[in-house]
Amino acid sequence: MRTVVLLGPPGSGKGTLAGRLATATKLRHLSTGDILRDEVARDTELGRKAKVHMDRGELVPDGLILDMVRGRIGGEDVLLDGFPRTLAQAEGLAEITPVGAVLYLELTRDEVVRRLSARRVCRDCGENYNLLTQPPATAGRCDRCGGELYQRPDDVPEVIARRYDVYEKDSAPLVEHYESKGVLKRLDGAAPPEHVYAQALKALGHAQA
Ligand code: AP5
Repeated sequence: MRTVVLLGPPGSGKGTLAGRLATATKLRHLSTGDILRDEVARDTELGRKAKVHMDRGELVPDGLILDMVRGRIGGEDVLLDGFPRTLAQAEGLAEITPVGAVLYLELTRDEVVRRLSARRVCRDCGENYNLLTQPPATAGRCDRCGGELYQRPDDVPEVIARRYDVYEKDSAPLVEHYESKGVLKRLDGAAPPEHVYAQALKALGHAQA
């Protein structure tokens, strides 16, 4: 198995798929969004620089992202979630490691807005919920650890809209880029999570566990 990239608009289910897929493929899951949120929470220099962009729904500059991932990839294949997001990042990645497959989760803008407005995340363990499709058993509390559920600051309507616009402008060109390299696999991101997972395993030529 070579390095696998999960590509798709905000809220298309990259993080949800990555958890199960990393276990099945034994690839290490690396989410640039999670790393950045951790840097913000720890109030590091990178976190302070990144927060300004993240709060607006804009991309963190390529130079910062490439420096951040360079120290974290290398020597092993990984499952990349939310990276690369620009052609410059894709070129940077190609210098670090070859990409074996890109799983592209397709989802419409309306569905992105609907999903992300309803997402809640556990403050303690990071578990993801959705008030429409996957609500917690007790309102406001994590089923897994009892932690408090919160709404990401970038999951409010005006920031979701901006994130989608930025995706279309800066990240959508990656579809053509990876298609021309023959590694792009299209998945129906609107299917239920189980089906998305099954499509991903099939696309990677992996038997369902
Ligand atoms: P990041 O955290 O990567 O945000 P994103 O790409 O916008 O993706 P999300 O985490 O919002 O969604 P997802 O696709 O993982 O979906 P999820 O599985 O959670 O990045 C945040 C910010 O950091 C960026 O805006 C940018 O500022 C910065 N950043 C990060 N990486 C960067 C980079 N490389 N370069 C520059 N800047 C960068 O699911 C969403 C919801 O839908 C959940 O509620 C879930 O339960 C539900 N759901 C999932 N799958 C399904 C399904 N199949 N059916 C129904 N509901 C589903």
